[in-house]
Amino acid sequence: MTDTTTTPASHLDLTEQERQAGLDLQQLKQLVGLVEYDEKQDPFPVTGWDALVFVVGNATQAAHYYQSAWGMELVAYAGPEHGTRDHKAFVLKSGSIRFVLKGAVSPDSPLIAHHAKHGDGVVDISLEVPDVDRCIEQARRAGVTVLQEPETVSDEHGSVRVAAIATYGETRHTLVQREVDGVTYAGPYLPGYVTAASTFVKRDGAPKRLFQALDHVVGNVELGKMDEWVGYYNKVMGFVNMAEFIGDDIATDYSALMSKVVASGNHRVKFPLNEPAIAARKSQIDEYLEFYAGPGAQHLALATNDILRTVDELRKEGVEFLDTPDAYYDDPELRARIGEVRVPVEELKSRKILVDRDEDGYLLQIFTKPLGDRPTVFFEIIERHGSLGFGKGNFKALFESIEREQDLRGNL
Ligand SMILES: [Fe+2]
Repeated sequence: MTDTTTTPASHLDLTEQERQAGLDLQQLKQLVGLVEYDEKQDPFPVTGWDALVFVVGNATQAAHYYQSAWGMELVAYAGPEHGTRDHKAFVLKSGSIRFVLKGAVSPDSPLIAHHAKHGDGVVDISLEVPDVDRCIEQARRAGVTVLQEPETVSDEHGSVRVAAIATYGETRHTLVQREVDGVTYAGPYLPGYVTAASTFVKRDGAPKRLFQALDHVVGNVELGKMDEWVGYYNKVMGFVNMAEFIGDDIATDYSALMSKVVASGNHRVKFPLNEPAIAARKSQIDEYLEFYAGPGAQHLALATNDILRTVDELRKEGVEFLDTPDAYYDDPELRARIGEVRVPVEELKSRKILVDRDEDGYLLQIFTKPLGDRPTVFFEIIERHGSLGFGKGNFKALFESIEREQDLRGNL
């Protein structure tokens, strides 16, 4: 590994994916709030995200959507032509993050039952770790369900060591060790996948990519279960608590939720965990739990260094965002609180981009409408400027916006 850090006591190297994406540590500190930490004390060291694996109803078409609308690039493929009999899987990249889109081919595929129950969603939040066996030992000590025992899988590009543990709902964490016996796996994703190139041609003048990294993935869990899952990430995976929002912070007139955030030692991986709180009407978390048929990943926050451009490009491709009333931007209290940001507030207002500030800096963010047919998974676009928060100051405005949509769906 190349040593790019100046502080010898810390362990902060670029991952292979970040290096390939041309990102540097300074950019990552700004994009996702990367921090230095000592991996030696960590019972379950996590390097970063390996991939976000989705099960969808039609992976062939979803792969097109993520290329055409989201500017991602196809890098690998598995399917019947190459020995994967029951499903197709498309691996797409943007910056340092991979999405894997899986769809059933055979009527006997186990993906069919999963999709029938949950609809399109995230089935696997796959994490890159330096030592799979050490992680699985720790998970077993902590009583976690091991879904896949550690094994080394190989092809002509080399070997990876993988295992998987269960997390909330039917979601799993596959753990991927990409360096085995001192050799880093050189294939396009995992053994079983072949290199694939995009046939989609970007429009003239389209930016190289619309997002550079994944910032956080939010998990929605059942009422009363949030602390249990916070404990899981604390005790099993050694994650630290980042921020805490309870009760009034994020209550609207109708609904409420509670949320706590855990993060891996280097903060590359951040998991806000939400549970519904008792309120007058059905909360957005209740709606999610009903339509996803249980706990699962709610939103994925994609980090960009130019949210204005990203949002403009996405809108051109027909991506729909939640609306923010003009009153949000005209509120003198908000104007005073956010102070100076890198563009005039009018630029944010015309795009409905939200802004929040805390003691460390500010962030710009916007949320899409649900990505699929069910009111479940959606994306956030986030541009950080020092703030390591999650937009706490925007929760009320955001939830009121979600509730207007919920009401239109007849689910409020
Ligand atoms: Fe978020």
